[in-house]
Amino acid sequence: MRLSKLLLSTAIGTAIAFSFSVGESAAKGKVNLYCSAQEDWCQLMAKGFEKASGIKVNMTRRSSGETFAKIKAEARNPKGDVWWGGTGDPHLQAAEEGLSTPYTSPNQAQLQGWAVAQSDSAGGKTIGIYSGALGYGYNEDILKKNNLPVPACWKDLLKPEYKGHVQMANPNSSGTAYTTLATMVQLFGEKEGFEYMKGLHKNINQYTKSGSAPIKAAARGENIIGIVFIHDAVKQAVKGFPIKSVAPCEGTGFEIGSMSLIKGGRNFDEAKKFYDWALTAETQSRALEVNAFQVPSNTGAKVSPKAPKLEEIKLIKYDFVKYGSSAERKRLLKKWDNEVKSLPK
Ligand code: F6P
Repeated sequence: MRLSKLLLSTAIGTAIAFSFSVGESAAKGKVNLYCSAQEDWCQLMAKGFEKASGIKVNMTRRSSGETFAKIKAEARNPKGDVWWGGTGDPHLQAAEEGLSTPYTSPNQAQLQGWAVAQSDSAGGKTIGIYSGALGYGYNEDILKKNNLPVPACWKDLLKPEYKGHVQMANPNSSGTAYTTLATMVQLFGEKEGFEYMKGLHKNINQYTKSGSAPIKAAARGENIIGIVFIHDAVKQAVKGFPIKSVAPCEGTGFEIGSMSLIKGGRNFDEAKKFYDWALTAETQSRALEVNAFQVPSNTGAKVSPKAPKLEEIKLIKYDFVKYGSSAERKRLLKKWDNEVKSLPK
Protein backbone atom coordinates (compact mmCIF):
# COMPACT_ATOMS: atom_id res chain seq x y z
CA MET A 1 0.00 0.00 0.00
CA ARG A 2 2.67 2.33 1.12
CA LEU A 3 4.69 1.55 -1.98
CA SER A 4 1.75 2.21 -4.29
CA LYS A 5 1.08 5.49 -2.49
CA LEU A 6 4.72 6.38 -2.94
CA LEU A 7 4.58 5.48 -6.63
CA LEU A 8 1.43 7.50 -7.04
CA SER A 9 2.90 10.57 -5.40
CA THR A 10 6.09 10.15 -7.45
CA ALA A 11 3.99 9.90 -10.60
CA ILE A 12 2.04 13.02 -9.66
CA GLY A 13 5.30 14.77 -8.80
CA THR A 14 6.79 13.82 -12.15
CA ALA A 15 3.66 14.92 -13.97
CA ILE A 16 3.75 18.28 -12.18
CA ALA A 17 7.47 18.66 -12.86
CA PHE A 18 6.89 17.69 -16.51
CA SER A 19 4.07 20.14 -16.97
CA PHE A 20 6.24 22.82 -15.37
CA SER A 21 9.10 22.13 -17.73
CA VAL A 22 6.73 22.09 -20.72
CA GLY A 23 5.15 25.26 -19.36
CA GLU A 24 8.56 26.84 -18.98
CA SER A 25 9.79 26.02 -22.46
CA ALA A 26 6.42 27.03 -23.89
CA ALA A 27 6.45 30.21 -21.84
CA LYS A 28 8.32 32.03 -24.60
CA GLY A 29 5.93 30.59 -27.16
CA LYS A 30 6.09 30.42 -30.90
CA VAL A 31 5.06 32.42 -33.91
CA ASN A 32 3.98 31.22 -37.35
CA LEU A 33 5.58 33.53 -39.86
CA TYR A 34 4.36 33.80 -43.45
CA CYS A 35 7.18 35.42 -45.36
CA SER A 36 7.03 36.87 -48.88
CA ALA A 37 10.51 38.36 -49.29
CA GLN A 38 13.56 36.49 -50.61
CA GLU A 39 14.21 33.11 -48.98
CA ASP A 40 17.56 34.17 -47.47
CA TRP A 41 16.02 37.30 -45.93
CA CYS A 42 13.09 35.26 -44.56
CA GLN A 43 15.55 32.84 -42.93
CA LEU A 44 17.51 35.70 -41.44
CA MET A 45 14.33 37.24 -39.99
CA ALA A 46 13.21 33.92 -38.52
CA LYS A 47 16.57 33.07 -36.93
CA GLY A 48 17.20 36.67 -35.86
CA PHE A 49 13.90 36.88 -34.00
CA GLU A 50 14.37 33.49 -32.36
CA LYS A 51 17.74 34.64 -31.07
CA ALA A 52 16.51 38.05 -29.92
CA SER A 53 13.34 36.83 -28.19
CA GLY A 54 13.65 33.12 -27.42
CA ILE A 55 10.34 32.68 -29.27
CA LYS A 56 10.33 29.85 -31.79
CA VAL A 57 9.55 30.82 -35.38
CA ASN A 58 7.91 28.49 -37.91
CA MET A 59 8.55 30.23 -41.20
CA THR A 60 6.93 29.49 -44.57
CA ARG A 61 8.08 31.40 -47.68
CA ARG A 62 5.62 32.04 -50.48
CA SER A 63 5.13 34.82 -53.02
CA SER A 64 2.83 37.73 -52.18
CA GLY A 65 -0.27 36.66 -54.14
CA GLU A 66 0.14 33.05 -53.05
CA THR A 67 0.37 34.06 -49.39
CA PHE A 68 -2.73 36.21 -49.72
CA ALA A 69 -4.60 33.23 -51.22
CA LYS A 70 -3.39 30.96 -48.41
CA ILE A 71 -4.46 33.38 -45.66
CA LYS A 72 -7.84 33.73 -47.33
CA ALA A 73 -8.26 29.97 -47.64
CA GLU A 74 -7.37 29.56 -43.95
CA ALA A 75 -9.61 32.42 -42.73
CA ARG A 76 -11.94 30.15 -40.74
CA ASN A 77 -9.03 28.39 -39.10
CA PRO A 78 -5.97 30.68 -39.30
CA LYS A 79 -2.62 28.93 -39.23
CA GLY A 80 -0.36 31.96 -39.63
CA ASP A 81 0.24 34.74 -37.10
CA VAL A 82 2.21 37.37 -38.96
CA TRP A 83 2.76 38.07 -42.66
CA TRP A 84 6.06 39.82 -43.23
CA GLY A 85 7.23 41.08 -46.63
CA GLY A 86 5.79 41.02 -50.09
CA THR A 87 4.27 43.85 -52.07
CA GLY A 88 1.73 46.07 -50.34
CA ASP A 89 -1.22 45.53 -52.71
CA PRO A 90 -2.26 42.08 -51.45
CA HIS A 91 -1.65 43.21 -47.84
CA LEU A 92 -4.14 46.03 -48.50
CA GLN A 93 -6.57 43.56 -50.04
CA ALA A 94 -6.20 41.34 -46.95
CA ALA A 95 -6.99 44.35 -44.75
CA GLU A 96 -10.09 45.19 -46.76
CA GLU A 97 -11.31 41.59 -46.71
CA GLY A 98 -10.97 41.41 -42.91
CA LEU A 99 -8.08 38.93 -42.97
CA SER A 100 -5.71 41.06 -40.87
CA THR A 101 -6.00 42.87 -37.59
CA PRO A 102 -5.17 46.48 -36.63
CA TYR A 103 -2.16 47.18 -34.45
CA THR A 104 -0.13 50.31 -33.69
CA SER A 105 3.45 49.52 -32.79
CA PRO A 106 5.31 51.77 -30.35
CA ASN A 107 8.01 51.85 -33.07
CA GLN A 108 5.72 53.41 -35.65
CA ALA A 109 7.04 56.91 -34.84
CA GLN A 110 10.45 55.89 -36.26
CA LEU A 111 9.06 55.14 -39.73
CA GLN A 112 9.03 57.02 -43.03
CA GLY A 113 5.81 58.83 -43.97
CA TRP A 114 5.05 56.37 -46.81
CA ALA A 115 5.15 53.43 -44.40
CA VAL A 116 2.69 55.08 -42.02
CA ALA A 117 0.47 56.27 -44.89
CA GLN A 118 0.08 52.61 -45.94
CA SER A 119 -1.09 51.82 -42.41
CA ASP A 120 -3.46 54.80 -42.26
CA SER A 121 -5.09 53.83 -45.56
CA ALA A 122 -5.86 50.37 -44.14
CA GLY A 123 -7.14 51.34 -40.69
CA GLY A 124 -3.85 50.24 -39.07
CA LYS A 125 -4.10 46.68 -40.44
CA THR A 126 -0.79 46.77 -42.34
CA ILE A 127 2.42 48.78 -42.30
CA GLY A 128 5.23 49.58 -44.75
CA ILE A 129 8.54 47.85 -44.04
CA TYR A 130 10.49 48.70 -47.22
CA SER A 131 10.14 50.25 -50.63
CA GLY A 132 11.62 49.55 -54.05
CA ALA A 133 11.18 50.50 -57.71
CA LEU A 134 10.13 48.17 -60.52
CA GLY A 135 12.27 47.77 -63.61
CA TYR A 136 14.19 44.99 -65.27
CA GLY A 137 17.62 43.46 -65.49
CA TYR A 138 19.48 41.68 -68.24
CA ASN A 139 22.46 39.37 -68.60
CA GLU A 140 24.98 41.56 -70.39
CA ASP A 141 27.13 38.66 -71.63
CA ILE A 142 24.33 36.73 -73.28
CA LEU A 143 22.76 39.89 -74.66
CA LYS A 144 26.03 40.64 -76.45
CA LYS A 145 26.50 37.04 -77.59
CA ASN A 146 23.05 37.18 -79.20
CA ASN A 147 23.80 40.57 -80.80
CA LEU A 148 20.76 42.08 -79.12
CA PRO A 149 20.37 45.83 -78.57
CA VAL A 150 20.65 47.22 -75.04
CA PRO A 151 17.10 47.96 -73.77
CA ALA A 152 16.36 51.17 -71.87
CA CYS A 153 12.57 51.58 -71.92
CA TRP A 154 9.48 49.46 -71.25
CA LYS A 155 8.52 49.69 -74.93
CA ASP A 156 11.92 48.30 -75.97
CA LEU A 157 10.86 44.95 -74.54
CA LEU A 158 8.22 44.64 -77.28
CA LYS A 159 10.84 44.43 -80.04
CA PRO A 160 10.54 41.18 -82.02
CA GLU A 161 14.26 40.43 -81.58
CA TYR A 162 13.63 39.81 -77.87
CA LYS A 163 11.15 37.01 -78.62
CA GLY A 164 11.66 34.18 -76.14
CA HIS A 165 14.21 36.18 -74.15
CA VAL A 166 12.00 38.01 -71.65
CA GLN A 167 10.71 36.48 -68.43
CA MET A 168 8.33 37.75 -65.77
CA ALA A 169 6.26 36.17 -63.02
CA ASN A 170 2.55 35.43 -63.08
CA PRO A 171 0.70 38.38 -61.46
CA ASN A 172 -1.70 36.00 -59.69
CA SER A 173 1.06 34.47 -57.58
CA SER A 174 3.63 37.27 -57.60
CA GLY A 175 3.42 40.77 -56.17
CA THR A 176 6.23 41.87 -58.49
CA ALA A 177 4.23 40.86 -61.55
CA TYR A 178 1.00 42.40 -60.23
CA THR A 179 2.94 45.63 -59.68
CA THR A 180 4.08 45.34 -63.32
CA LEU A 181 0.51 44.96 -64.56
CA ALA A 182 -0.80 47.82 -62.38
CA THR A 183 2.16 49.98 -63.44
CA MET A 184 1.40 49.55 -67.15
CA VAL A 185 -2.26 50.42 -66.57
CA GLN A 186 -1.27 53.57 -64.65
CA LEU A 187 1.59 54.55 -66.95
CA PHE A 188 -0.10 54.06 -70.32
CA GLY A 189 -3.84 53.99 -69.41
CA GLU A 190 -5.86 50.76 -69.22
CA LYS A 191 -6.40 50.19 -72.94
CA GLU A 192 -2.82 50.82 -73.98
CA GLY A 193 -1.50 49.14 -70.83
CA PHE A 194 -3.25 45.90 -71.77
CA GLU A 195 -2.07 46.22 -75.37
CA TYR A 196 1.44 46.50 -73.91
CA MET A 197 0.96 43.35 -71.82
CA LYS A 198 -0.31 41.50 -74.93
CA GLY A 199 2.71 42.63 -76.94
CA LEU A 200 5.03 41.63 -74.13
CA HIS A 201 3.34 38.20 -73.93
CA LYS A 202 4.71 37.41 -77.41
CA ASN A 203 8.25 37.79 -76.11
CA ILE A 204 7.79 36.02 -72.75
CA ASN A 205 9.48 32.62 -72.49
CA GLN A 206 7.88 31.71 -69.14
CA TYR A 207 5.66 33.14 -66.39
CA THR A 208 7.29 32.08 -63.13
CA LYS A 209 5.63 31.73 -59.73
CA SER A 210 8.02 33.97 -57.82
CA GLY A 211 8.79 37.56 -58.76
CA SER A 212 12.57 37.39 -58.51
CA ALA A 213 12.93 34.06 -60.38
CA PRO A 214 13.38 35.72 -63.83
CA ILE A 215 16.51 37.57 -62.78
CA LYS A 216 17.93 34.54 -60.98
CA ALA A 217 17.44 32.63 -64.25
CA ALA A 218 19.23 35.44 -66.11
CA ALA A 219 22.10 35.26 -63.60
CA ARG A 220 22.39 31.51 -64.27
CA GLY A 221 22.41 32.19 -68.01
CA GLU A 222 19.03 30.54 -68.60
CA ASN A 223 17.23 33.73 -69.60
CA ILE A 224 18.27 37.17 -70.88
CA ILE A 225 15.86 39.82 -69.56
CA GLY A 226 13.93 39.58 -66.28
CA ILE A 227 11.19 42.03 -65.25
CA VAL A 228 11.76 42.46 -61.51
CA PHE A 229 12.21 45.01 -58.77
CA ILE A 230 15.48 46.79 -59.50
CA HIS A 231 16.89 45.83 -56.08
CA ASP A 232 16.54 42.15 -57.04
CA ALA A 233 18.65 42.76 -60.17
CA VAL A 234 21.26 44.66 -58.14
CA LYS A 235 21.44 41.72 -55.72
CA GLN A 236 22.51 39.40 -58.55
CA ALA A 237 25.09 41.93 -59.80
CA VAL A 238 26.53 42.30 -56.29
CA LYS A 239 26.80 38.50 -56.13
CA GLY A 240 29.10 38.74 -59.17
CA PHE A 241 26.77 37.84 -62.06
CA PRO A 242 26.89 39.91 -65.29
CA ILE A 243 23.51 41.53 -64.60
CA LYS A 244 22.74 45.14 -65.50
CA SER A 245 19.65 46.84 -64.15
CA VAL A 246 17.36 49.26 -65.97
CA ALA A 247 15.03 51.96 -64.64
CA PRO A 248 12.76 52.26 -67.72
CA CYS A 249 12.79 55.60 -69.54
CA GLU A 250 9.00 56.13 -69.49
CA GLY A 251 8.93 56.01 -65.69
CA THR A 252 7.95 53.13 -63.45
CA GLY A 253 5.92 51.90 -60.49
CA PHE A 254 7.15 50.90 -57.08
CA GLU A 255 6.16 48.83 -54.08
CA ILE A 256 5.67 49.43 -50.41
CA GLY A 257 6.69 46.06 -49.01
CA SER A 258 4.41 45.44 -46.05
CA MET A 259 3.68 43.51 -42.86
CA SER A 260 0.33 42.51 -41.35
CA LEU A 261 -0.92 40.60 -38.31
CA ILE A 262 -3.20 37.76 -39.38
CA LYS A 263 -6.70 37.97 -37.89
CA GLY A 264 -7.43 35.14 -35.49
CA GLY A 265 -3.76 34.06 -35.33
CA ARG A 266 -3.27 31.91 -32.23
CA ASN A 267 -0.06 33.55 -31.06
CA PHE A 268 -1.08 37.18 -31.04
CA ASP A 269 1.27 38.36 -28.25
CA GLU A 270 4.30 36.73 -29.88
CA ALA A 271 3.24 38.07 -33.29
CA LYS A 272 3.10 41.62 -31.88
CA LYS A 273 6.61 41.16 -30.46
CA PHE A 274 7.84 40.09 -33.90
CA TYR A 275 6.05 43.06 -35.48
CA ASP A 276 7.69 45.56 -33.09
CA TRP A 277 11.10 43.92 -33.56
CA ALA A 278 10.77 43.94 -37.37
CA LEU A 279 10.24 47.70 -37.36
CA THR A 280 13.44 48.55 -35.46
CA ALA A 281 16.40 50.20 -37.19
CA GLU A 282 18.68 47.39 -35.99
CA THR A 283 16.56 44.63 -37.53
CA GLN A 284 16.00 46.49 -40.80
CA SER A 285 19.74 47.24 -41.13
CA ARG A 286 20.37 43.48 -41.18
CA ALA A 287 18.83 43.31 -44.69
CA LEU A 288 22.27 44.24 -46.02
CA GLU A 289 23.68 40.93 -44.70
CA VAL A 290 21.67 39.17 -47.42
CA ASN A 291 22.10 41.85 -50.10
CA ALA A 292 18.49 42.98 -49.80
CA PHE A 293 18.71 46.51 -51.19
CA GLN A 294 15.17 47.78 -50.62
CA VAL A 295 14.77 51.19 -48.97
CA PRO A 296 14.04 50.47 -45.28
CA SER A 297 11.01 52.08 -43.62
CA ASN A 298 12.80 52.87 -40.35
CA THR A 299 14.49 56.24 -40.83
CA GLY A 300 17.46 55.10 -38.70
CA ALA A 301 18.18 51.88 -40.64
CA LYS A 302 21.34 51.55 -42.73
CA VAL A 303 21.11 51.97 -46.50
CA SER A 304 23.81 50.54 -48.74
CA PRO A 305 25.48 52.81 -51.34
CA LYS A 306 24.79 49.95 -53.79
CA ALA A 307 21.02 50.28 -53.27
CA PRO A 308 19.03 51.81 -56.16
CA LYS A 309 18.36 55.48 -55.40
CA LEU A 310 14.64 56.02 -55.69
CA GLU A 311 15.04 59.80 -55.92
CA GLU A 312 16.97 59.28 -59.19
CA ILE A 313 14.29 57.06 -60.73
CA LYS A 314 11.28 58.47 -62.57
CA LEU A 315 8.49 57.08 -60.37
CA ILE A 316 4.81 57.25 -61.22
CA LYS A 317 2.29 58.29 -58.59
CA TYR A 318 1.30 54.68 -57.88
CA ASP A 319 -2.23 54.58 -56.48
CA PHE A 320 -1.86 51.97 -53.73
CA VAL A 321 -5.39 52.43 -52.43
CA LYS A 322 -6.95 51.76 -55.82
CA TYR A 323 -4.66 48.95 -57.00
CA GLY A 324 -4.61 47.33 -53.55
CA SER A 325 -8.41 47.27 -53.38
CA SER A 326 -10.03 43.88 -53.57
CA ALA A 327 -12.29 44.72 -56.53
CA GLU A 328 -9.53 46.25 -58.66
CA ARG A 329 -6.94 43.56 -57.99
CA LYS A 330 -9.47 40.80 -58.76
CA ARG A 331 -10.66 42.61 -61.89
CA LEU A 332 -7.18 43.21 -63.32
CA LEU A 333 -6.02 39.66 -62.61
CA LYS A 334 -9.10 38.18 -64.26
CA LYS A 335 -8.68 40.45 -67.27
CA TRP A 336 -5.01 39.49 -67.56
CA ASP A 337 -5.89 35.77 -67.37
CA ASN A 338 -8.61 36.14 -70.03
CA GLU A 339 -7.04 38.63 -72.41
CA VAL A 340 -3.28 38.14 -72.10
CA LYS A 341 -2.27 34.79 -70.61
CA SER A 342 -4.66 32.84 -72.83
CA LEU A 343 -3.24 34.30 -76.07
CA PRO A 344 -1.05 32.15 -78.27
CA LYS A 345 2.54 33.36 -78.56
O1 F6P B 1 12.50 40.27 -51.52
C1 F6P B 1 12.44 40.56 -52.86
C2 F6P B 1 11.12 41.03 -53.34
O2 F6P B 1 11.28 41.51 -54.64
C3 F6P B 1 10.45 42.10 -52.48
O3 F6P B 1 10.99 43.38 -52.66
C4 F6P B 1 9.01 41.97 -52.87
O4 F6P B 1 8.16 42.53 -51.90
C5 F6P B 1 8.86 40.49 -53.00
O5 F6P B 1 10.14 39.98 -53.36
C6 F6P B 1 7.85 40.13 -54.04
O6 F6P B 1 7.92 38.77 -54.32
P1 F6P B 1 6.86 38.09 -55.28
O7 F6P B 1 6.86 38.84 -56.55
O8 F6P B 1 7.39 36.70 -55.45
O9 F6P B 1 5.55 38.15 -54.60
